[in-house]
Amino acid sequence: MFGVRLNPRVCAVVFAGLAAAAPVSAQSLQPPGWDRDLKLAEAPDRNPDPHIVEIDLDARIAPVEVAPGVRADAWTYNGGIPGPLIRLHVGDRLIVHFSNHLPQPTTVHWHGLRLPIQMDGVPDVSQPPVPEGGTFTYDFVVPDAGLYWYHPHVMSAAQVGFGLYGALLVEDPKEQVNVADQTVLVLSDIGIDNRGKLDSPDSGGSTGMAFGREGSYVLVNGRVRPRLVARSGAPQRWRIVNAAKSRYFQIDLDGQAMTRIGGDGGLLEHPVKLDTLVLAAGERADIIIAPALKPGAELEVLSFPFNRGYGSVEYRAVENLLTLAIDTQAPYTGWSLAPMHRAIEPISTEGATPVNIEFTLAQRPDGAFEYGINGVPFAKDHPITATPGETQVWTIVNKTKWSHPFHLHGFFFQVLDDKGRHVQPLEWKDTVNVPLEQTVRVVVRYDDRPGSWMFHCHILDHADGGLMGMLDLGVPHADHSAHSTH
Ligand code: C2O
Ligand code: CU
Repeated sequence: MFGVRLNPRVCAVVFAGLAAAAPVSAQSLQPPGWDRDLKLAEAPDRNPDPHIVEIDLDARIAPVEVAPGVRADAWTYNGGIPGPLIRLHVGDRLIVHFSNHLPQPTTVHWHGLRLPIQMDGVPDVSQPPVPEGGTFTYDFVVPDAGLYWYHPHVMSAAQVGFGLYGALLVEDPKEQVNVADQTVLVLSDIGIDNRGKLDSPDSGGSTGMAFGREGSYVLVNGRVRPRLVARSGAPQRWRIVNAAKSRYFQIDLDGQAMTRIGGDGGLLEHPVKLDTLVLAAGERADIIIAPALKPGAELEVLSFPFNRGYGSVEYRAVENLLTLAIDTQAPYTGWSLAPMHRAIEPISTEGATPVNIEFTLAQRPDGAFEYGINGVPFAKDHPITATPGETQVWTIVNKTKWSHPFHLHGFFFQVLDDKGRHVQPLEWKDTVNVPLEQTVRVVVRYDDRPGSWMFHCHILDHADGGLMGMLDLGVPHADHSAHSTH
């Protein structure tokens, strides 16, 4: 370096100083094989270009075993539930050679990703549904770091409920989080009867739909109650997605601290401490734990019934998600979370166009329940319209007796409180819970990706039952008023 031979002692001092200032490239502190029991399969990348991930994704029926002796023929991506973990770096291009070997048409929707409408996987809007035996190539760039997921958008409640979902992790090598040990946890559930048959997606008729059907087995990475090993005091980073079609998770670590550092669209403005973590269907969380437990102890990670409306907490059991087994090493004492800050610009609400939507539930003359947006199932012929560059504040009114996770395709939004102020810390979201009989406001600014973007409740039974609508961005519309003169 500059032709000068460095004194090794000076060097050591310099590096020690650096490490103290930015403890970023943290080393693994967990025992070897700590996440072996629940590690997700990854899709092999068949493209040698380091900035392109090219994979095969095959939807097919395959036997799965979710717990010892509990087997079923599930609907899978590449033969497993969940489907393979797809891993990329921010800015990479993803090419997915998809083939459909299901007995039904399907598509793949890339939940949360800001991609072109042609890649959004909504049947007849983005693409024709992929027929039985058909193929489709998804090809897009991943613009934002975060944990996302993929699932079908044809008969979603049935197909997701049968097992079709997977996680997609976009990492940013420049992200400064001083935790090396990371695992992706895909939470879901599945209904399997004692003869190994999957629950009918129509069980309970329209009342089952109005509630939102939950499967009897709660799964973490496709398994009932897997094990995760931890060293006491050493940090683990959990990237969690709720891929269940209706179920909420309310995660409790029996008093152990959780720090949430990220959500749907990557890191938060700054970390926040949590006692419990609630994840509505479709939402993601990025949390750090460092269990302060005795070597050899075991902690059951539980999900408590969350009140998402009538019938959701009465006579419901606490679910075991996983067992956190503390290994026998002496506790690690040298770690604390390095300060983190992500600059997130609050979207200004000044001059924003107001959009009002109401989630409605009606009963037809025949007694069947029907969800709607402003009273119209699927908001048929009533799209919300917008132009690229426009900012809108959506007021989402939920007068029903059930909570609804609102999800907008293609764009992140920021959540506002009831005074119209930005909820702190700032974060980018694509799915937000609208609690029963409450109102939620979000602000969104559209970039230039015209198309018909869907929004809906992510309780997929509700979506299929009418709680869906369309945002037409930069889509020319027939002007009916022009014809009203004759
Ligand atoms: Cu996970 Cu239409 O979305
Ligand atoms: Cu809903």
